[in-house]
Amino acid sequence: MSRARAPIGLGVRIDGVSKAYETREGEDLLALDRIDLEIRAGEFVAVVGPSGCGKSTLLSMLAGLIRATSGTIRIDGAPLTGPHPGAGVVFQSDHLLYWRTVLDNVLLPIEIKRRPLAGYAARAEELLAQVGLAGFSAKMPSELSGGMRQRVAICRALIQEPGLLLMDEPFGALDALTREQLIMDLQTMWLAVGNTVLFITHGIDEAIFLADRVIVMSPRPGRIDLDLAIDIPRPRRWKEIHENAAFLAAARKVREIFEAKGVLAAD
Ligand SMILES: Nc1ncnc2c1ncn2[C@@H]1O[C@H](COP(=O)(O)OP(=O)(O)O)[C@@H](O)[C@H]1O
Ligand SMILES: [Mg+2]
Repeated sequence: MSRARAPIGLGVRIDGVSKAYETREGEDLLALDRIDLEIRAGEFVAVVGPSGCGKSTLLSMLAGLIRATSGTIRIDGAPLTGPHPGAGVVFQSDHLLYWRTVLDNVLLPIEIKRRPLAGYAARAEELLAQVGLAGFSAKMPSELSGGMRQRVAICRALIQEPGLLLMDEPFGALDALTREQLIMDLQTMWLAVGNTVLFITHGIDEAIFLADRVIVMSPRPGRIDLDLAIDIPRPRRWKEIHENAAFLAAARKVREIFEAKGVLAAD
């Protein structure tokens, strides 16, 4: 993207948020326990934690898809009561509609918001080109590889210029090379757009590589064990990051927490 960085990021404030689910046996299962987290406008925050610690629960609450049992979430100061018009979400599986073309999938949020599609088609093509999918807009999802479909899902989230981009293990299902490319592309997008990003992953390396801050969560019930600032200049380069002393120190710190909690590998 050639645009200058515009301050479109939304600020997020999470105060004392807990979430209990009711199990099928009718018992309470505490998924998240009193989470406090402030994300500044334009900040890139990654959350890492073992499977089942409540990462998706946290993201779904920020997306306005489920409600907290207690506590409050504010977006730019306003209490969140449902999906925020400025938020875009990317999940681990692409959730593309198989009967719609690539272009029509990217335009779906615009259609849902009943905005004039004509004004967005060129932008959709531009986004697709930026993720290496120029010329693919008339294809059907079934004609694309998994990595390409996930790129389409990312374009679908970006078409609304989300001030808050919520990503739940978006690269978890991809092969290593595609994942590396998309990690780099995401950094480029974020540097150009300046939105706020909450990126959930169980990959310690991609969390540290991408984020301004890495939040480490405990096994369920999820609590914040560590809030680690990552001071590595950008743009960062994936190929060189494993030689960077700040990167290695951060990775060691995160691993130490997981080991102390009995989470040997981060999932
Ligand atoms: N709808 C639900 N009903 C009951 N339990 C749930 C529901 N969704 C998630 N859970 C439970 O809450 C805990 C946290 O889940 P989740 O947020 O998906 O964790 P993560 O994304 O970190 O793997 C898990 O123990 C999970 O089984
Ligand atoms: Mg999850």
